[in-house]
Amino acid sequence: MIPVTKDFIRIQELSQYEGKEVTLQGWVQNRRDSKGIVFLILRDGSGFLQCVALQEKIGDTAFEEAKRLSLESSIRLKGLVKKDEKQIGGFELEVNSLEIFENAEEYPIGKKEHGVDFLMDHRHLWLRSKRQWAIMRIRNTVIFAIHEFFQQNGFVEMDAPIFTGNACEGTSTLFETDFFEEPAYLSQSGQLYGEAMAMAMGKIYTFGPTFRAEKSKTRRHLSEFWMIEPEMAFYDLDMTMDVIEEFIRFVVQRVLDKNKFELEVLERDVTKLEVVTQKFPRISYHDAVAMIKGEKDVNGKNSILTLQDDLIQTQERILAIGKEIEERELAIKTPGMKKGQITFNEEKIRQLKVEVKDLEEAERNIPQWIASAQNFVYGNDFGGSDETVLTRLFETPIMVYNWPKAIKAFYMKEADDAPGFVRGVDVLAPEGYGEIVGGGQRETDIQILIDAIHHHELPMEAFEWYLDLRRFGSVPHSGFGLGLERIICWVCKLPHVREAIPFPRMMGRLLP
Ligand code: 4AD
Ligand code: MG
Repeated sequence: MIPVTKDFIRIQELSQYEGKEVTLQGWVQNRRDSKGIVFLILRDGSGFLQCVALQEKIGDTAFEEAKRLSLESSIRLKGLVKKDEKQIGGFELEVNSLEIFENAEEYPIGKKEHGVDFLMDHRHLWLRSKRQWAIMRIRNTVIFAIHEFFQQNGFVEMDAPIFTGNACEGTSTLFETDFFEEPAYLSQSGQLYGEAMAMAMGKIYTFGPTFRAEKSKTRRHLSEFWMIEPEMAFYDLDMTMDVIEEFIRFVVQRVLDKNKFELEVLERDVTKLEVVTQKFPRISYHDAVAMIKGEKDVNGKNSILTLQDDLIQTQERILAIGKEIEERELAIKTPGMKKGQITFNEEKIRQLKVEVKDLEEAERNIPQWIASAQNFVYGNDFGGSDETVLTRLFETPIMVYNWPKAIKAFYMKEADDAPGFVRGVDVLAPEGYGEIVGGGQRETDIQILIDAIHHHELPMEAFEWYLDLRRFGSVPHSGFGLGLERIICWVCKLPHVREAIPFPRMMGRLLP
């Protein structure tokens, strides 16, 4: 292995070095060559850069090596930084010398389409792809923005334990482990501890891994995910909804400001995110159900009619794509068609086929969504499709509050003005993403809590410490939990939450 050097820069710093010679180190993301010239795309984790190696510049030996470089080989380049607007990042490197750390073995992730299972099996390598790189950079921005927001607003970060002796969100979804011969559970939520910490600090937030054991295989479910849970003394539900709205707006705005390039890589329509500057509608469960069932319109939009219209448009688009594919396939076979044109058409056909697959899924789903929306039973929790139907009517995230007591956790405060309903709130993201935040005001009456613990068949002794919070200086308080991967999923418009975390843990996925 060639020795290390301190004297190198990263691609993200290039703009300071225009016209200068620099050393860069990274991996070969792509390579093509023609007579006397090799083009490399170098990636170093901070960005991507086209590097041009001329035989006459780097010499015959290095040139032969450059031509043989396999994908993901690790290299060091010295060269001249030139401005080139046409290139990604706006620069190009004119290579003067090339050194090789390691010539990589044949890289398993190629240009051809891979199935998701294959990619997930190779997650440790898949993370290097440009798309995954972009998602993880956005994840980083989101994490930093979350800390920024709370730190600027007087919250103290405190960590809740991961081994816990009690359930927070209900016993059916706990991972049990052996804690020195005592059963312990991996935390579902830091909230109960957050409440204790808020009584010590006034305003706190936790930021940690949480675990859910349900055997769910939906695109929103992870067995291990990261949750941010602020808890605030002297706050009621309305004040909490104000915080949530400001918080989400802040985080999304940070991504829009800092990750223009990454959002471009993901081909994300940013206008769909820019709407966060608008007010988030606050809708009671009662009204939300009427909207789902199509009994109440929103700005002239009716859920059932909108879905029926979506279905027609989906079907029309499928037909149009079918026609376009046919035309392009015919064009490819036309004698005399140039190689470049053929490749272009083939790529288009590939893209269209991907689009059709999604559309066909929608074509199958929409009638089911319509049926389950029309048959929704008042009092039930929203399913994924109900959330999709409801959020379809809005451009911004919405906040649904005052939920039926029976379907929410034991600690939720009953609404004074709506008996049987609790002061909980779910924030639902648009574009079909659904719940990203759950929270609300906490019950302060110790007797109501004791009854609720009995009613939910939770072990009283494990909650004694929690009840102490109501014995010693109890105050109105509220909080919420944001699912980190859920918000990333929406911001990046990912098809599945598994791409929002470096190494997802889900049923059937423990490696890598
Ligand atoms: O709605 P949940 O279950 O609420 C709580 O745990 C409360 N104790 C939070 C609080 O008030 N402090 O979970 C909160 C959020 C959800 O809105 C969702 O974004 C995310 O956590 N979440 C999941 N994300 C990925 N995979 C899962 N299995 C998730 N379950 C919940
Ligand atoms: Mg929830």
